[in-house]
Amino acid sequence: MNTNTLNLGSEVAHLKRSDMRKLINLTAAPDIISLAAGLPSGEHIPVDELKDCIATVLERDGARSLQYGPQFGPLVSWITEYMKRRSVPCEPGQVLITNGAQQGLAIVSRLFLNEGEVAVTEEVTFTGIQQVTAGRGARLRPIPTHAQSGADMDALEEALRGDPRPKLIILVPDFHNPLGVSISEEKRVQAANLAAEYDVPLIEDDPYSQLCFEGEAPLPIAAHDTSGKVFFVGSFSKMLAPAVRLGWIVAPEELMPMLVAFRESLDLESSALMQRSVGEYLQRGLLEPHLDSLNATHRKRCRAMQSALEEHMKDLATWTKPGGGLFVWVELDESIDGRDLFTRAIEKKVAFIPGDAFAVVEGHRNTMRLSFCNKSPDQIEEAVSRLARIVSEMM
Ligand SMILES: Cc1ncc(COP(=O)(O)O)c(C=O)c1O
Repeated sequence: MNTNTLNLGSEVAHLKRSDMRKLINLTAAPDIISLAAGLPSGEHIPVDELKDCIATVLERDGARSLQYGPQFGPLVSWITEYMKRRSVPCEPGQVLITNGAQQGLAIVSRLFLNEGEVAVTEEVTFTGIQQVTAGRGARLRPIPTHAQSGADMDALEEALRGDPRPKLIILVPDFHNPLGVSISEEKRVQAANLAAEYDVPLIEDDPYSQLCFEGEAPLPIAAHDTSGKVFFVGSFSKMLAPAVRLGWIVAPEELMPMLVAFRESLDLESSALMQRSVGEYLQRGLLEPHLDSLNATHRKRCRAMQSALEEHMKDLATWTKPGGGLFVWVELDESIDGRDLFTRAIEKKVAFIPGDAFAVVEGHRNTMRLSFCNKSPDQIEEAVSRLARIVSEMM
């Protein structure tokens, strides 16, 4: 078929063809120690428990679990209580269940942001955030992120003062993808205040806060919001399993009809079977022990990565020290090109994601995202020592 004669819509011109999937495919050979993919550790995905919950739901609810239907009430109640536990005022009418956080980002950004308008994101950020902003023709006004305290609030204020006024802010407050950094408590208060003062909605994209393995995750930005400007987007992908494809938006109730209409333009609703099965899982009290063991494993692996970096890369790089999530961000000498390093690394059977894949503008070519969650401490030590050897050879 000759597609040259098709009149494609204007959004096509802005589509960002993320190379993440291509990079991850290159790392997939079984003999490669890959620190590339951002998946919660595979052996912790609760297959048997979910199998039992799905069977129970099918047995108990029959065809209702395979029909179209309203949002599953007990799941909405669980989300409402969860938000309240995190000090975010929330009523059931404020919750929209989505197919993961990505759909939440897509829906809320459509509510506020049009082609040609300005959005504020971090300079280095999750590619899905770039897809729902630049990917729809928005102009990005990026702000830097500090390795210890997260997004720069002075830069955020400057971006909000700029002309034209931004229409949307998107931040990842906890265990940032790809930086592994969390926004400090003080900056969370500032972020909520700035959104209110400049009257710009802020999406708080939080798939990672429950993956906290050192101390406790601070309260969400939404907990400090008194003006209804902060839109919380949550997800079960990382705390339970990506393939359940369930997340949620918390938004003022008055906006719900519009959010629901945007959502209906995408896919009508989330699977009743999955909503009910995850609801059953939560109702059985299985999430907390699951998170305890998942986070204990991630803690061990993250510590192994920190020790390996300390041992092999002390003179070659600086890196972040996350207390949760899945990623460590490594900055190498300016002379090192992460894409070259990636090619050499694949030859030596070790892999990572070159950091520039997450850069909103240009640059950050001397960086890498390392994921610690899916490899044993011994594999992590071996992978980091191989990477260090290659970096030394390139210096
Ligand atoms: C920061 C961030 N936001 C959103 C998502 C999308 O998650 P979900 O699977 O819930 O759509 C991801 C996935 O990796 C992510 O890292």
